[in-house]
Amino acid sequence: MARALAVTGRDQSPAVLDVPVPNPGPGQIRVAVEAASVNGIDAAAGAGLLWDSVPHHFPVVLGRDFAGTVERVGPGVATIRPRDRVAGVITGMSLARGTLTDTIVFDARSVAPLPEGISEEQAAAAGLAAVTARALVDALALTSDDTVLVAGATGGVGAFAVQFARAAGATVYATARPGEATEFVRGLGANETVDYTNGLAAPPGLSAIVQAAGDGRELAALLPPGGRLSSATGASAATVGRSDIKVTSVVASFTPESLGTILDALASGALRAPITHTYAMSEAPQALADFGQHKLGKLVVDTRR
Ligand SMILES: NC(=O)c1ccc[n+]([C@@H]2O[C@H](COP(=O)([O-])OP(=O)(O)OC[C@H]3O[C@@H](n4cnc5c(N)ncnc54)[C@H](OP(=O)(O)O)[C@@H]3O)[C@@H](O)[C@H]2O)c1
Repeated sequence: MARALAVTGRDQSPAVLDVPVPNPGPGQIRVAVEAASVNGIDAAAGAGLLWDSVPHHFPVVLGRDFAGTVERVGPGVATIRPRDRVAGVITGMSLARGTLTDTIVFDARSVAPLPEGISEEQAAAAGLAAVTARALVDALALTSDDTVLVAGATGGVGAFAVQFARAAGATVYATARPGEATEFVRGLGANETVDYTNGLAAPPGLSAIVQAAGDGRELAALLPPGGRLSSATGASAATVGRSDIKVTSVVASFTPESLGTILDALASGALRAPITHTYAMSEAPQALADFGQHKLGKLVVDTRR
């Protein structure tokens, strides 16, 4: 059995419970998970907001990203061995065996090795958020001529997007409430901050927007003709009401190679995992509750505690 943050049926609240763990089948590995992080889909599923829109296979274990150590390998797995340190991400919209657990069975071809010098917590914090942020920033093809607004810069996806946009050479405006949140995004490298709680004005020279939060229509209205907007929340040119800008809706997908590039950047110090709190497994329901309460960056669960 594994300890997991799980939901056992419709209208049940998430709780830390024991769930069965199968032996790894052909092409699979069993991983002793050491860290997993909380993402928006976990908070939404835990609050019962996805009952009617996403298939649930009970018991649903929440969590989309993890890092840990391989315990056993299934038949036919040649490239990964017990004691290897690995990280993985679940994409796609079905809810079944997630990563907020101390043990997971995973497709061996879908994990990336953990480089030396990077912790399981860092890798798990990057996971889905960093993969999504990478895709959002790549969709904008930013250069040093761009000024980009990252809407939702204080969240997990946004905190990575700020760093990727700066690394691309763009001038970065980051949304943040006054105070601690403003300091947080400045610490990630934002050139300027924007208090979104009082309405938004277009920063000078704005050419692109990463939408990790906020109203698509309101954000798109800030862009000049020819501007670009990439959206983590499903915006399209039609939904934002602008046919004269380029809108890209990003759905996270990843390969071990793309996750590996992110892990290497963490290991080299070029990228920072914006972890603001680590919870014990017994506190995982609290991590879920805290997610929607103006937390900053990434919340991580140490699944072994
Ligand atoms: N497309 C995909 O494949 C994919 C993958 C992962 C995530 N997502 C989506 O991406 C979004 C961001 O995910 P996340 O994990 O980063 O969530 P998150 O950690 O909750 O971040 C959202 C951040 O946005 C801030 N915010 C709220 N309203 C805002 C507004 N009007 N303007 C600017 N900032 C605002 C929040 O701050 P306050 O709490 O202080 O208001 C929070 O810090 C979510 O909608 C998530 O579902 C999509």
